[in-house]
Amino acid sequence: MVNTKVQLSSLTLDNPVIPASGTFGFGYEFAELYDINVLGSFSFKGTTKEPRFGNPTPRIAECPEGLINSVGLQNPGIHAVIAEELPKLAKCFHKPVIANISGFSVDEYAYCCELIDKEPQVGLIEVNVSCPNVHNGGMAFGTDAVAAAEVTRAVKAVTTKPVYIKLSPNVTDIVSIAKACEEAGADGISMINTLLGMRIDLNRKKPIIANKMGGFSGPAIFPVALRMVYQVYEAVNIPIIGMGGVSSADDVIEMMLAGATAVQVGAANLIDPFAAKKIVEDLPRAMEQYHISSLKDIIGGAH
Ligand code: SIN
Repeated sequence: MVNTKVQLSSLTLDNPVIPASGTFGFGYEFAELYDINVLGSFSFKGTTKEPRFGNPTPRIAECPEGLINSVGLQNPGIHAVIAEELPKLAKCFHKPVIANISGFSVDEYAYCCELIDKEPQVGLIEVNVSCPNVHNGGMAFGTDAVAAAEVTRAVKAVTTKPVYIKLSPNVTDIVSIAKACEEAGADGISMINTLLGMRIDLNRKKPIIANKMGGFSGPAIFPVALRMVYQVYEAVNIPIIGMGGVSSADDVIEMMLAGATAVQVGAANLIDPFAAKKIVEDLPRAMEQYHISSLKDIIGGAH
């Protein structure tokens, strides 16, 4: 009998598998397909202070081994999330959820995090400083160590729950940004968000995506994500949630060996809504294959 439990700050997860923000809605949509309580947790859609319609369409471009999205943080706003989405989730999910919060100013991050921190079902706050699809927000904070640290400090000052900062790979030195967040009080790091990418429609000879560029995710980025998790693990003493192209139980184990305590599954959910469930179910088999009796023992094992 293998042990899939992991400890993510104050949360004990039955397993490390977590659908990533933006690929799992507010959870209850997927509860119509299967019992989402089999998951370790999940991270809900990136939420901002005001409701957002998102970017113009087309927002998606398919690529070999992945896809580019430019959704633009479409969400109903923090007040509707608290009043309408979380009560629906509570009916079908009986575990702590990860709240993914985005913003366009330090004050907005702090405002939303202070509110969401009070929600009983929220177990951990994931602060998204890495959305590549909005101007003057998101990634603007995550590509600069000083700005990322400023957001971290502001959020930590008004919250009680673990705060994980979700980092962008679109930087020359992700390690220095992770370290700045740790020094500013972050309880953990989530990494990586999508890589800025682009496709051109050969018939129209114009970018496929209305916003021209978007975030590239899917199996093609897995080696990049793994490399960054490996590097950040060596530099910080706080837990890492690893993500980027994870699509199998073997990928979860590889990500944990690089240094992740838990692992998010993103684009795979968009291709197959049962992807995260299948990974959870396949984990014990993969653990037996690689002679792993307890997942928590392999974190950072490749170092
Ligand atoms: C989006 O809504 O544009 C994606 C969110 C993200 O990549 O952080």
